[in-house]
Amino acid sequence: MPDVTLTTLNKLKRNGEKIVCLTAYDATFAHMECQAGVEVILIGDSLGMVLQGHDSTLPVTIDDMAYHTQCVKRGNQGALIMADLSFMTYATLEQALANSARLMQAGAHMVKIEGGSWLAESVTTLVRNGIPVCVHLGLTPQTVNVLGGYKVQGREEAQAKALLADCKALEAAGASMLVLECVPSSLAAEITRSVGIPVIGIGAGSETDGQVLVVHDMLGLSLSGRMPRFVKNFMTGQPDIQSAVRAYVEAVKAVEFPAAEHEF
Ligand code: KIV
Repeated sequence: MPDVTLTTLNKLKRNGEKIVCLTAYDATFAHMECQAGVEVILIGDSLGMVLQGHDSTLPVTIDDMAYHTQCVKRGNQGALIMADLSFMTYATLEQALANSARLMQAGAHMVKIEGGSWLAESVTTLVRNGIPVCVHLGLTPQTVNVLGGYKVQGREEAQAKALLADCKALEAAGASMLVLECVPSSLAAEITRSVGIPVIGIGAGSETDGQVLVVHDMLGLSLSGRMPRFVKNFMTGQPDIQSAVRAYVEAVKAVEFPAAEHEF
């Protein structure tokens, strides 16, 4: 696969071909995911839960993120590497710049931050300094304590309007991509049609430009034994992990995943 860049992702959106994104936290998984055709590897701060065993992403540090980004970079074979800025590492412009620089120097091609239109100035400043930004909206796990739990966002009309306005404002500020987590499918579809940048969904239905999952979830690995509604276990019926990841890539490309039972 030739190296995936923002140009590649924009072209996929224009052509209506789904973008496949999956988390990885180490070199072996990054390598295997590239072999299976994953286009965007996310070093998610979900590593705080699936690798470190915390009950939220809040304890994850920028040192953790930089370390796992370096690991992924060593195994990467052409995917676009996106790394999360962890909790409270972009609260000020200075922090956003310094911590994004750490992730880019560790091997990321793009950083991801969680929030709404209040991040516009940070987005513009990062982009001016050569750092592409993806903004994660909807259910934003770093603000789980403000949201009052891991709940679907944007069900009410006012909330849906605000989310759409935030997405447009962040695109105008220079964001290169959006992630929408746990929003009603109809709202995610409207947002995807309303912005020119790629929109990746997780629990946001099948009409976004692409999909992302936490790799442990899609392999059926869970510390709690519970899986969110939007997850499918791709290990079912597959002989090995590589085949399961390939099945995920094929299902996203064929718009077979997510199905109605994974949507809100
Ligand atoms: O941290 C993560 O893995 C994420 C995905 C759930 C989108 O942000």
